[in-house]
Amino acid sequence: MNLIRSTRTFSLLALLIISLNQFGWAQTPLVASTLAPAPHQAPGDSEPWWMHALIYEIYPRSFQDSNGDGIGDLKGITDRLDYLQSLGVNAIWLSPIYPSPQVDFGYDISDYENVDPQYGTLADFDQLVAEAKKRNIRIIMDMVMNHTSDKHPWFIESKSSRTNPKRDWYVWRDGKGPGIPPNNWQSVFGHSAWKFDSTTNQWYYHKFYAEQPDLNWRNPEVEKAMFDAVRFWLDRGVAGFRLDAIPTLFEDPQLRDAKETGGTNAYGDPILDDTYTDNLPEVHDVMRRLRKVVASYPGDRVLIGETYLPNVQELDKWYGGSRHDELNLPMDMQIGFTNKLDAGLFRQRIEDVETKVHGNQPLVVFDNHDNARSWNRYGDGAHDAAIARVIATMLFTTRATAMMYYGQEIGMVTITPARKEDVKDPIGVIGWPNEKGRDGERTPMQWDASRNAGFSTAAVTWLPVAPDYKTVNVKVEEANPDSLLNWYKNLIELRRTNPALRDGALTMLDPTNPNVLSYVRKGAAGTASVVVSLNFTAQPQTVSLDLAGTGVTADNVKTLMTDDPSLQSATGLSHIVLPPFASWVASVQ
Ligand code: NOJ
Repeated sequence: MNLIRSTRTFSLLALLIISLNQFGWAQTPLVASTLAPAPHQAPGDSEPWWMHALIYEIYPRSFQDSNGDGIGDLKGITDRLDYLQSLGVNAIWLSPIYPSPQVDFGYDISDYENVDPQYGTLADFDQLVAEAKKRNIRIIMDMVMNHTSDKHPWFIESKSSRTNPKRDWYVWRDGKGPGIPPNNWQSVFGHSAWKFDSTTNQWYYHKFYAEQPDLNWRNPEVEKAMFDAVRFWLDRGVAGFRLDAIPTLFEDPQLRDAKETGGTNAYGDPILDDTYTDNLPEVHDVMRRLRKVVASYPGDRVLIGETYLPNVQELDKWYGGSRHDELNLPMDMQIGFTNKLDAGLFRQRIEDVETKVHGNQPLVVFDNHDNARSWNRYGDGAHDAAIARVIATMLFTTRATAMMYYGQEIGMVTITPARKEDVKDPIGVIGWPNEKGRDGERTPMQWDASRNAGFSTAAVTWLPVAPDYKTVNVKVEEANPDSLLNWYKNLIELRRTNPALRDGALTMLDPTNPNVLSYVRKGAAGTASVVVSLNFTAQPQTVSLDLAGTGVTADNVKTLMTDDPSLQSATGLSHIVLPPFASWVASVQ
């Protein structure tokens, strides 16, 4: 079963997969194992920049508005680069900024080689790249290769006649009969994935909105055009791409009906098996060719994948397994979107990506513009701030490259629209009230306690600012040493400067403990190692961490970071008492 989860509907599927996996894991006893970095991940100057990077996703509409129209823009992002530098950001992933009718807020592109006037100009983009470079921050573009906007000139030509040279750039088919689509496939965003077009009396396929027709990747001209767009941005100095919905590039050429797997989704449609529409093997050939294009540029440009996948074996394929010749960093959604604080589950998934992807570099992400914020997905309503620190600590203390979403660092919450008429994201209208859309995780960045949280001077912002902005904002949190923002900053700095946290092999400690996740990152001979212990429960937990067999000694234990004063003075690894949801990071030597 494959998974491209861009909505909460997909989250439900993920939960199903997660429970099935859990069942499988219960059969296998957990053992402590030392997870050594692969040879090509050794510390040193030869490492690509992204190995230990913090990649920060910006949703441009919501980050900073510089011209008072209530919508964020590129100049706004440039104005905030100093903040991103102070946080320790190494690269920005920009959600789409291309010209677009904005049906899917930029994921419906009508020109791959320009900037939407709402966000600025190509000159503004160049300035952003240049200013970011001065601060050692790279820019990563969002590349949407599965579909275009229905307003893209390619599609307008394609639909104009059955004999148009671009007809075959999209997926057109006859229906099964009058008013009956070619098969039963569904859009991720609800209902049939086929739309009838009366100009030529055929149907076209759209995995997402009808305004997002799928490109036909079996036509080599499509690949050529898309790779040209990739080169356009590489020539402009971008550091790489986040590939949108990439497992959906190909469909079954025979258009076989999908099997129903039982039940209905948030849109009331039967749930279908996605074997014929997701993760077809052909996509990997495209990835290998794309990798060659990107690798032909200097400076370790990176390919990141939006890869919602059912298990680590599928994830490994996106790296190219032992060939290492596809994506550099397919996102590991198994860790960040478990959506429950289960120490055993996290332990297993962290071990999976350490041991089962041929030494490729993991990329961990907890938040993005398609899912309720981690604050709400993991919070219990009583210990939310402590839980947010547990999540942050996990993000920065395993060996993975870290990806964050704007506002995560200050504890922004999901603001789900209360009324259907307020919803901006079309899936929230189609699926109301079961699916309320993704507006909740896209509200404006909260900079300070001034009007509109310092995001915009407009009378009305495109989405409302969250009501908690007077207390949850960058300015207030910068001034508070105990804020979530400072927790993030300290962790990011610790990881940047601590060799064991950067490169050390990871060994799970106390591996059968269902309540506390503990591990050690081993320093090089004669240097300090780092022990991490995280209480995943609302009760105090006492742990004794045994380093036997890890090659690490613990004569000298010193707390590096904790949110509990009693742990500040810990001097050993026995009988450590962790208060509810406490985080503890210590140097051991
Ligand atoms: C995944 C993106 O993250 C999401 O926002 C978008 O709606 C779909 N892909 C379609 O492009």
